[in-house]
Amino acid sequence: MNHKILIVFVSLFVTFMGTKAQNTKDKKGILLVTFGTSYPLASKAFDNIDNKVKAQWPDVEVRWAYTSKFIRAKLQRQGTEIDSPAQALVKMAEDGFTHIAVQSLHVIPGSEYHDLLEIVRSMQTLRGIVNIEVGSPLLCGHNDLQVMTDFIHNKFAKGLDEQSSLLLMGHGSHHNANVFYPGFQYYLNAASSKIHLATVEGYPLLDEAIVKMKARGTQKVLLTPFLSVAGDHAQNDMAGEEKDSWKSRLEEEGFYVEIIMKGLAEYDEVVDLWISHLKDIYHEL
Ligand code: CO
Repeated sequence: MNHKILIVFVSLFVTFMGTKAQNTKDKKGILLVTFGTSYPLASKAFDNIDNKVKAQWPDVEVRWAYTSKFIRAKLQRQGTEIDSPAQALVKMAEDGFTHIAVQSLHVIPGSEYHDLLEIVRSMQTLRGIVNIEVGSPLLCGHNDLQVMTDFIHNKFAKGLDEQSSLLLMGHGSHHNANVFYPGFQYYLNAASSKIHLATVEGYPLLDEAIVKMKARGTQKVLLTPFLSVAGDHAQNDMAGEEKDSWKSRLEEEGFYVEIIMKGLAEYDEVVDLWISHLKDIYHEL
């Protein structure tokens, strides 16, 4: 193709795109909402989500917000400003977005997620906003629990010998949705007796998992976070050298412990599940 034809093509294309943008005032955007992390190495998990979402929606602007006030304050002291969901939505309305898909990157529909729903409800009337939809967290129904069970089983449990168990560290919650953790354990049991799930701040407890792992003659425990990122809980509560870390407690009980220090958001299969929830609501916008 010679240059002149190329220039005509490009200018026709630019004109066409310009006309299209003028005809419609709609501006769609994506807001990804996570609890947040102040652990620098853990944020690579968020980069993975960011890249995958941008690859799926190359023409849509993607922004982030953290629900944790504590994490945002900590990052601010280190010189990094991260918006709360409310701040991010106000800014997006000011920047002319009319339709916003908000994706919760939480693991269960607990208090963080329900707070987010409340915030979005109160933001629907912001000037210029036509619609805001919220995508469900990772585990929000039968299909999610099955997809995650298959992932966990294939990724970690399938290759384990009879003397080994997989132990997942979930966060746990005081919210009623904590029931998703024992609920998930039910699905995991159906796949394999080698997979155990316990939580830091909810139920099931580590002690219960220890009893079950001993009952099946476990010698080696493969320990990994069931958390979106391998941040503070994974580094300290799970794998820390202190006496009360899960690693120390398991070793105290006589298990040999092997750690996989990777957050859920580092696995493409898991990010795909969050993205499938985002696709569901993006179509609704
Ligand atoms: Co916590």
